Amino acid sequence: MPVDIIVGTQWGDEGKGHITDLLSSKANLVARFSGGDNAGHTVTIGQEIFKLHLIPSGIIHHRSICLIGNGVVINPQVFIEEVEGLIQRGINVHPGRLKVSDRAHIITPGHLALDEAIENAKGRSAIGTTKRGIGPAYTDKSARIGIRAGLMRSPSEFDEAVVFHIKGKNALLAHVYGEDELDVDSIRDNYREFARYMHPYLADTSAIIHEALASDSTIIAEGAQGTLLDLDHGTYPYVTSSWPTAAGALGGLGIGPKHIGRVIGVTKAFTSRVGEGPFPTEITGDEAVRLRGTGTNPWDEFGTTTGRPRRVGWLDLAILRYSTRINGLSELALTKLDILSSLPEIPVCVSYRLKGEMIDHFPSDLHSLSDCEPEYVSLPGWKRDITGARSWADLPPNAQQYIEFISDSIGIPIKLLSVGPGRQQIVSL
Ligand code: IMP
Repeated sequence: MPVDIIVGTQWGDEGKGHITDLLSSKANLVARFSGGDNAGHTVTIGQEIFKLHLIPSGIIHHRSICLIGNGVVINPQVFIEEVEGLIQRGINVHPGRLKVSDRAHIITPGHLALDEAIENAKGRSAIGTTKRGIGPAYTDKSARIGIRAGLMRSPSEFDEAVVFHIKGKNALLAHVYGEDELDVDSIRDNYREFARYMHPYLADTSAIIHEALASDSTIIAEGAQGTLLDLDHGTYPYVTSSWPTAAGALGGLGIGPKHIGRVIGVTKAFTSRVGEGPFPTEITGDEAVRLRGTGTNPWDEFGTTTGRPRRVGWLDLAILRYSTRINGLSELALTKLDILSSLPEIPVCVSYRLKGEMIDHFPSDLHSLSDCEPEYVSLPGWKRDITGARSWADLPPNAQQYIEFISDSIGIPIKLLSVGPGRQQIVSL
């Protein structure tokens, strides 16, 4: 069976964990391909809520093997805390079913401190990162001075690499950013312990995927973040430092395009964004609170990783058309439709007005994007609770119209629809 890729089509937080959870119930292997613990995937099972940052959501299903691919950057402390938290909740996270690529790079306190220092130094032009050390870790990877997880197999070399690395970061912290230096010895000692813990989990994950392909297994590539946070195709520089798009799954797992089956774009029924950068359909005030929630529910629009309130706005079809193109999407999974249920009318952005002209594409240039004014059509709301819907026929006609309008406008089908956080609240269309 080919690999099915799940990607976010907006600025992340589309509900990929929820969709991966459903699809991985039938998968033999679930592999995370990009980002780090900047991601937060929430999976709700009955009354239980799992918040995962690094480990693929498929871990909750006892049948799937889970991989963290070479494209991911791993904070070992977060990895260990997540593994231990899952063990306490009775989930099997034995090294036999959870594998970490030995080519993945590790995040250190040096990366965390630099992320913070760079953001502080940027002042008003800060990106609004999650401060998880993601940018500095990928910077080191590209500069060929990063530390790969595989080095944890060689304790003395690993020690040396950590010491050399922290000394380098200390020089930058003290002399470029005027910050305090980190304690080299205690970090080395901690990382020695982390290496002992992680050692059994290390593997050549690309080889495991290829074995699974040869044995006709069902494989899911689980994305993190979203298309507009992609280092190349997102709203640079207000992006993350990896490739959350479909192409990132190939590089981030070590597979070729001939092995790809479906490319599923997860889209929230409205739009959200965390951090800085242009957001054409952003809304504020009471309308925004209706979409965002107040933070009392686990599904409200507050960051899983940072707790920050997300900026929210209406659905933007220019973004969806762009994501369909960049990812080669075969279908969409539309999430959180239930959040729109109380609205009498639902605005959907169909194009932009830019310097007096109508455009229907998502501009590559950030200044142009900042100048874009959304052109909306208003669709009638359904004003009915849809959280109990389990089939197309259960949906009110106006909800059906909203779904059809989106899929007709972007030219690909919507095959999955979520009407609530529960596992049984995902409708196949
Ligand atoms: P970084 O990935 O921590 O460097 O943050 C860069 C940008 O990506 C910031 O605007 C973050 O808010 C955003 N970002 C990173 N990860 C996520 C995510 O999982 N969901 C939403 N936004 C994210």
